[in-house]
Amino acid sequence: MLSYQHSYHAGNLADIHKHATLCAALDYLIQKDKPLSYIETHAGRGMYDLTSKEAQKTGEAANGIKALLASNAINEAHIYIKTLRHIQQFHGKNIYPGSPMIADAILRDTDRIHLAELHPQEYEALTYNFRGLKMNIKQEDGFVMANRIVPPEPRRGLMLIDPSYEVKSEYTKTAEFIINMHRKWNVGVIMLWYPILETPQHLEMISMILSAGLPKTIHHHTHFDKLVHKDHRMKGSGLFILNAPYGLEKSLVEIEGFYK
Ligand SMILES: C[S@@+](CC[C@H](N)C(=O)[O-])C[C@H]1O[C@@H](n2cnc3c(N)ncnc32)[C@H](O)[C@@H]1O
Repeated sequence: MLSYQHSYHAGNLADIHKHATLCAALDYLIQKDKPLSYIETHAGRGMYDLTSKEAQKTGEAANGIKALLASNAINEAHIYIKTLRHIQQFHGKNIYPGSPMIADAILRDTDRIHLAELHPQEYEALTYNFRGLKMNIKQEDGFVMANRIVPPEPRRGLMLIDPSYEVKSEYTKTAEFIINMHRKWNVGVIMLWYPILETPQHLEMISMILSAGLPKTIHHHTHFDKLVHKDHRMKGSGLFILNAPYGLEKSLVEIEGFYK
């Protein structure tokens, strides 16, 4: 089907939750001198122009990243804000980085990046945005790519799973996938994002993951009620982080502050 395009939503309230947590987790991982693998199953186009007609149509970045940067709700010293400022210095203030660009900004030359993006237009933009950089980018189903390369080499690392949930069955499929990924790669940090909707399709996924009893798991959610109109379809943003790096919880408390 593939009708979802992240250009309409880049820099929204959910991106802040997901990307700030991703930055904090990667920042903890790079404290050790050993190389890492970064795997992303649903990469998107890697960077977004907040002045594009898609972004302007929804205006989601206005009460997302633009409001955050104007508010100082997350300290300038936080790795998310530092990474954003660094990327915007290079690409301009109207650019919002997607997760692959955020990861690339934080990771080191010795780390390996694997990205999958299925949508032809998004894949083309992704390969263009990262031209000349050393990464493995595939136009492939991210679940298939991950199954093929996990456990990765180097073995330490992080996988981000960020599906567009265009069909209802994607929730249970994703729950089965993350449980299986943990089985195959029990030292990997695995991050899964999901939307909190008014309708309950995400609830079965949550209960499947929680009942699997995966170790060192953080289940974290933020709610948007104070920041969006009551008719807004997405009510909040949820994350599972398996094998969460030590100290990540502290960073999540700071991120939460923005939504209160
Ligand atoms: C939510 S967006 C990704 C945003 C990105 N992770 C970020 O935070 O910047 C989801 C992306 O997954 C792509 N997609 C959907 N199904 C896919 C699949 N099975 N495998 C790989 N990519 C897929 C969509 O085209 C879309 O670009």
